[in-house]
Amino acid sequence: MERRMLVAGNWKMYTTSGEGAVLVQDIAEELRDDLDDVEVVVCPPFTGIKAVSTVIELDHVHMGLGAQDMFWEAEGAFTGAIAPRMLTELRCTHVIVGHSERREFFGETDETVNRKVRAAFDAGLTPIMCCGETLATRDALRTDSFVHGQIMAGAAGLSADEAARLVIAYEPIWAIGSGRTPTPESANDVARAIRATIGAMYGPPTALQLRVLYGGSVKPENAKLFFAEPDIDGALVGGAALKADSFSAIAKAACGT
Ligand code: PGA
Repeated sequence: MERRMLVAGNWKMYTTSGEGAVLVQDIAEELRDDLDDVEVVVCPPFTGIKAVSTVIELDHVHMGLGAQDMFWEAEGAFTGAIAPRMLTELRCTHVIVGHSERREFFGETDETVNRKVRAAFDAGLTPIMCCGETLATRDALRTDSFVHGQIMAGAAGLSADEAARLVIAYEPIWAIGSGRTPTPESANDVARAIRATIGAMYGPPTALQLRVLYGGSVKPENAKLFFAEPDIDGALVGGAALKADSFSAIAKAACGT
């Protein structure tokens, strides 16, 4: 089963819209010849989406555009929230759901993650659903069962076709922004377990189509090692996504793998 590699940049709470427009232009410039066999997605803060979308459209850049979160309701009295159709209007294609920082600082739970995954599919957005364990969970040898629970709850209630289009980012919390990573083999073990969970929920053919990304301190120096693993289909990149040269180097590392 050929799964297309996906490299997504999570810009977190960095970049004004002006800075974002420059960054996406620089990335597009670096990747001009190399975009064909890798799907590249950038996820600016909400306020930068329009400016980045304009660059992508006017410069005919082959790049997906994602938000870092959204609410599940279509509209209403939800001060501060952003609805799915506000994203699709700006030509967003993807949305990150359930990032560990959303879970830690903004009260995201597996149940709210699941509602957002549902809402993303209903709006025609591809959800990039994040999961991953704390260091305490890993040390207690409970990573697989913890991540299994996150997937069972977060990916519940989909059609098999939706589950096949879901993207899951495995991001060990202790590896995010820390410069530490699991070994590629142990990241692949969890990616394989995630695929097995989706296989149990939606059937093995669906699981074979599912793309599982690794995230957490991915850099140009280590990206290829993760991409060489059979169950890892790309990366969700934070810090290294804020510089055009390092992000493009990671995307290029996914070419031909
Ligand atoms: P990092 O972040 O690459 O800076 O570790 C990854 C993420 O949080 O998605």
